[in-house]
Amino acid sequence: MTLINLFFEDSTRTRTSFELAGKRLGADVINMSVSQSSVNKGETLLDTAATLNAMRCDLLVVRHALSGAPHLLAQKVDAAVINAGDGLHEHPTQALLDALTIRRHKGGLAGLVVAICGDIAHSRVARSNIHLLAAFGCDVRLIGPPTLIPAGIERLGARVFHDMREGLAGADVVMMLRLQRERMTANLVPSVREYFHFYGLDAAKLAHAKPDALVMHPGPMNRGVEIDSAIADDPERSVIREQVEMGVAVRMAVLDTLARARQGGRNSA
Ligand code: NCD
Repeated sequence: MTLINLFFEDSTRTRTSFELAGKRLGADVINMSVSQSSVNKGETLLDTAATLNAMRCDLLVVRHALSGAPHLLAQKVDAAVINAGDGLHEHPTQALLDALTIRRHKGGLAGLVVAICGDIAHSRVARSNIHLLAAFGCDVRLIGPPTLIPAGIERLGARVFHDMREGLAGADVVMMLRLQRERMTANLVPSVREYFHFYGLDAAKLAHAKPDALVMHPGPMNRGVEIDSAIADDPERSVIREQVEMGVAVRMAVLDTLARARQGGRNSA
């Protein structure tokens, strides 16, 4: 099996864990460095993909700034395409690793109150988690300032709150998100200080959640912006490192399932 990591956006966790997952399964893993590729010479996304396809790669892991880019590629190449994050749209393997982490601690997902807090507007992690957690029977809450919560997002199956104390009341899981300034086209947040005051997770706000509530963050964290260091590093509450660990396991499962399906194996899905 040959796996190509094709990342058009920065990544630490996702790219490395797809690489490790592939290697642990015995695949040949190639990391395409987009900044050193022909994309800089004007090649289109589809031509780049067609080139990689002609080399007969089996699995293509794609991260791209445009929502829908992996879906488009999946229609054009023979390789199995895995979405490693597309624009503001989805990040499916992140939602899978988050669900696995929650299940390990809570035994299941149905009936849990999960609060996703912060920059919902620019978060593909939030969208994939809303879909997955709602499908598994969680009570999904979204908390953030009105400027960072898209109108109508309730229709995906979540309730919206603008006050951390209200939204966190009785929560089993508190999932913090980074302010994705690189995707913001306007000044949506007055200042970091004010943002932290209202929406940053500290001990006082966390006290409104259940005493055994899990604290999660997909990374990269901006300490002191959306989360206080003392909370992020608290081994009694934070499962942020475990999320990273589960990321390798979940990606191994995804790659294995797709590889078997390509080989027509008995466990194909
Ligand atoms: C996220 C992403 O890239 O969507 N990170 C990740 O994959 N763990 C979230 C972010 O960049 O803030």
